[in-house]
Amino acid sequence: MDFEITLLSNGFGAEVTGLDLSQTLSYDDFEIVRRVWFEAGVVVFRDQNLTPEHQVAFSRRFGPLIIHVLDQFQQPGQPEILLISNKKREDGTGVGFEEAGRYWHSDLSYVEKPAFGSLLYAVEIPPEGGDTMFADMRRALKTLPDETLLRITGRRGRHSYTRNFEDNEYLNSGRPAITSNQLSRIPGSTHPMVRTLTDSNDQALYVNPGFTYAIEDMDESESKALLSELFAHCTRPELIYTHKWKPRDLLCWDNRSVMHHATRFDPTHTRHMRRTTIEGDLPV
Ligand code: OGA
Ligand code: MN
Repeated sequence: MDFEITLLSNGFGAEVTGLDLSQTLSYDDFEIVRRVWFEAGVVVFRDQNLTPEHQVAFSRRFGPLIIHVLDQFQQPGQPEILLISNKKREDGTGVGFEEAGRYWHSDLSYVEKPAFGSLLYAVEIPPEGGDTMFADMRRALKTLPDETLLRITGRRGRHSYTRNFEDNEYLNSGRPAITSNQLSRIPGSTHPMVRTLTDSNDQALYVNPGFTYAIEDMDESESKALLSELFAHCTRPELIYTHKWKPRDLLCWDNRSVMHHATRFDPTHTRHMRRTTIEGDLPV
């Protein structure tokens, strides 16, 4: 297929036009898409008419899919799809994870092998708001002051799904209840703070305000202060791309090299999205 690649903004992210992802891409086209994704960190495809089956089939070509621990929000009959949605069932319960990720994070960094990539497809979006922001963690690393780089080199961050939420109301609002059984499946993780993307040897800063709560083998107050400094550094406007959704957008992001942050919208409107998540390697 004939298609075009354009860069988004702030030196990362790409939009690919001219591909129909409901069709099976040729090997060559698929390899180009994979490469663009790895290089750009975020890839946008507009105007895609994707059924859940199409999305799962396209996602699977990148690797095995992860079934999210919040299994109450699966697309019925399609456990690989996590619904991010404020739609309600007749009994008033939500069909999907309503306020997913309204803070900076990298998907599943709190597990031993975090997700490599996430793909989010917009079925229905509100007329305004509900944008998703992305931060370029390769550039965040490159622009760190030398002295800060020295302090984190060789160190590991501790990640947890719950720790940062325990005493932070802002993070905690809108979090769905999690059962002790679900919690037992996500005991937390530690990962290198500087991560190497094994396919390109690029390096990225790998800590995030949602899930990273401490630095291993560092005094607690020093660790907290250093993490705050890093979080402020990597969320500066020049490192951010803000995606304004249109229906039928498919967005793919590489959790190893970008963080993301969902934003609010008027909840009287519907926002209904489908996410698939690709398994990743042990971070090195
Ligand atoms: C996610 C997520 C952001 C959004 O699906 O992982 O963080 O804007 N969603 O819905
Ligand atoms: Mn997320």
